[in-house]
Amino acid sequence: MSEAQVIDGKAFAAKLRERVGEQAAKFEAASGRKAGLAVVLVGEDPASQVYVRSKHKATVAAGMESFEHRLPADTSEADLLALVEQLNVDPAVDGILVQLPLPDHLDEQAVIAAISPDKDVDGFHVTNAGRLAVGQSGFVPCTPLGCMMLLTDRLGDLSGLEAVVIGRSNIVGKPMAQLLLDANATVTIAHSRTKDLPGVVKRADIVVAAVGRAEMVKAEWLKDGATVIDVGINRLPPAEGADKGRLVGDVDYAGAQGVAGAITPVPGGVGPMTIAVLLRNTVVAAFRNEGLDLPEGTI
Ligand code: GUN
Repeated sequence: MSEAQVIDGKAFAAKLRERVGEQAAKFEAASGRKAGLAVVLVGEDPASQVYVRSKHKATVAAGMESFEHRLPADTSEADLLALVEQLNVDPAVDGILVQLPLPDHLDEQAVIAAISPDKDVDGFHVTNAGRLAVGQSGFVPCTPLGCMMLLTDRLGDLSGLEAVVIGRSNIVGKPMAQLLLDANATVTIAHSRTKDLPGVVKRADIVVAAVGRAEMVKAEWLKDGATVIDVGINRLPPAEGADKGRLVGDVDYAGAQGVAGAITPVPGGVGPMTIAVLLRNTVVAAFRNEGLDLPEGTI
């Protein structure tokens, strides 16, 4: 049996970041200022701190302005909403990202709803979810848009292909299904209550796994030659003597390599795409916010 091709998200993301850097330079030349991304972190969740640091570094590396706002874990909702409002009207800020999850006393939906849809580079605001649902241009959540870029790069036209998305979150599963539908795939969303998940997955030319359960999707479930996009990032329990477990996806990668046509690795597949697409959304926001046409070749 031949081995699946590895879809190198890290290399694709590096190329995308380079293109975004070129577009950011064009934006600066046209507008006289740098595109700006504001990132708000409430509290000290260690994983969120790592993400926010990476976003800051990548933003600066792409020639954009990064505005970081770190607030204490006991910040009130009123104070957080006031900061969001201040960023909404700040002309130096093109994109606003409030890092999730928020501490329990803060209402995530209320905070997302307060972000101006034109600065919502995460694509989480109901206005942007609605725009995606009815086919208007807006902002699309970064992870599913990154998955779509990898899929079209690998497969070209997706018309008529059977796609199964496992997971129905607002951040990945639902927007992913809509993007696939827009690309004329035949789309099924599977989830924890789906009967005969292996049977559903077996039909799929494209599998997008976004459930957050380590190695749940088995090699035997896959159709020969399927393209597999693994959004999961799960840490296994540490092996004896080790202080950290291995990172794995939602798909049994080693097994799937013998059946799939192509597959994203974890790490190095979908993960690096998310930040690259965030930068892409921010530079697009900057052009739109200044009323400028997007440069040729914007993806
Ligand atoms: N937490 C983990 N991923 C994300 C993301 O893409 N956006 C936001 N705002 N928070 C996150």
